[in-house]
Amino acid sequence: MLSRPRRNRKSEVIRAMLQETHVTAANLIFPLFVIAGEKQKTEIASMPGIYRYSVDNLLREVESCMKLGLKSFDLFPSIEEALKDRLATESYREGSLYLEAIKAVKTNFPECCVITDVAMDPYSSDGHDGIVDNGNILNDETLEVLGLMALAHARAGADIIAPSDMMDGRVGYIRELLDAKGYSNVSIMSYTAKYASAFYGPFREALGSAPKLGDKKTYQMNPGNKREALIEARLDEKEGADMLMVKPALPYLDIIKEIADASDLPVAAYNVSGEYAMLKAAIRNGWLDERKSVTEVLTSIRRAGATAILTYHAKEVLQNGWL
Ligand code: PBG
Repeated sequence: MLSRPRRNRKSEVIRAMLQETHVTAANLIFPLFVIAGEKQKTEIASMPGIYRYSVDNLLREVESCMKLGLKSFDLFPSIEEALKDRLATESYREGSLYLEAIKAVKTNFPECCVITDVAMDPYSSDGHDGIVDNGNILNDETLEVLGLMALAHARAGADIIAPSDMMDGRVGYIRELLDAKGYSNVSIMSYTAKYASAFYGPFREALGSAPKLGDKKTYQMNPGNKREALIEARLDEKEGADMLMVKPALPYLDIIKEIADASDLPVAAYNVSGEYAMLKAAIRNGWLDERKSVTEVLTSIRRAGATAILTYHAKEVLQNGWL
């Protein structure tokens, strides 16, 4: 036998020497959930180890992450039902929980990177990412709300704005608005290929943001489709996105590769709440080894072509020295 591929696997040193794909702290983005009040830290039942924090505790959490070299955060607000309305006005109200959280994090840790989520669902009494009219999700009217939200996030100090709503034309709309208002330095990480996935279940539980009626299939993508992702990628690129994101990650590794091959923009992937819940449930049952399964998942997402990974595992992998 002239070729014996096993020779390249014969020792730990050689295996490490030849490893193509690595995950580092710098690649990771940690999603954090914010709730109103003081001294609050409530665990999300379907996401063991993940909490909703009031702003005071959020700052403590950010500080402990920063010490581990984890410096990028994606913030999500849990809004009380009474503050929700049809037009999601709480999403851009001066003094709102979310805007105060962004300000607090950026004021206390100016060197960190704050990513903000632009979509109506956490603030919408309908639980949808757009304005609901007679059961229809209005596209162009929703852009105005998303614009107000993005602008409020930029004013509060967001480094990167991440529209997760899947309305058509929103990247271009937000880019133009930010530029016109003097925020040409604020980046846009677009949820380019966001699928209508079952794996968002635990996140919706965390925020109480599930749709009251219907589903999200008229705006989020059909899991059976791949070519549509390329249409979205081309549009986002043309509209001025700085980074393209695929979501979820693990069931859509082929989409990550497809977009990474098609575009020269950096690609990110969102290892979503249901992917986290699935792994944790098996680990808790003793069915999977925690360190090995978590690092294998993150490595595979990088190998598929994602440079940055949004993941609920971000802190634990660093805390436990798993990378
Ligand atoms: C909402 C939004 C969702 C997630 C991020 N932003 C849920 C949804 O679209 O219903 C999901 C994240 C996760 O599951 O971890 N715009």
